[in-house]
Amino acid sequence: MNDVILARALHVLAVLIWIGGVAMATTVLLPAVRRGDLGEDRLRAFQAIEHRFVWQARTAVIVVGLTGLYMTWRLGLWNRFQAITFWWMHAMVCVWLLFAFVLFVAEPFIPHPRFHRKATERPDIVFTRLHRAHWVLLALSLITILGAVAGSQGWSFF
Ligand code: HEM
Repeated sequence: MNDVILARALHVLAVLIWIGGVAMATTVLLPAVRRGDLGEDRLRAFQAIEHRFVWQARTAVIVVGLTGLYMTWRLGLWNRFQAITFWWMHAMVCVWLLFAFVLFVAEPFIPHPRFHRKATERPDIVFTRLHRAHWVLLALSLITILGAVAGSQGWSFF
């Protein structure tokens, strides 16, 4: 079972880097960008942070997905997806799909000239919305982590 232990360790490590980064961006960096503490050009400040973090997040998302699927297959946990008690298994997959879409589809492939224009013309509105979206993603991720850690130790929620 050493392979499962290793997969779990990598799974948690990647979750830490990924969601830790999202927490930092949401609670520290975005408020600073919104206030203009990192320069008047808020779009530039945001992109400087985003360009650096996005590769860490993409790598972490791949590691989390592969190790998660490996554990599910190796431990034969597929039937958990039929029981609401294991809602945290569904939550993990949903959070993963959400971020995978943002990082691998929306960010690189959906052109955002409108975002650039609006972020320059009305930075207040754009960065307020962006900040809110980060809060929603962070909240979903934290609930999922709480559920997964407690649930994998046998805590039955229902
Ligand atoms: C394709 C997506 C994913 C799959 C298939 C998956 C699968 C798994 C599996 C099978 C386990 C072990 C459960 C057990 O031992 O009973 C696990 C644990 C865990 N997962 Fe995921 N996961 C995925 C995504 C995520 C995401 C996105 C997060 C965080 C937001 C996450 C956080 C955790 C945590 C915190 C644990 C508990 C580790 C522990 O306490 O031992 N997973 N995952």
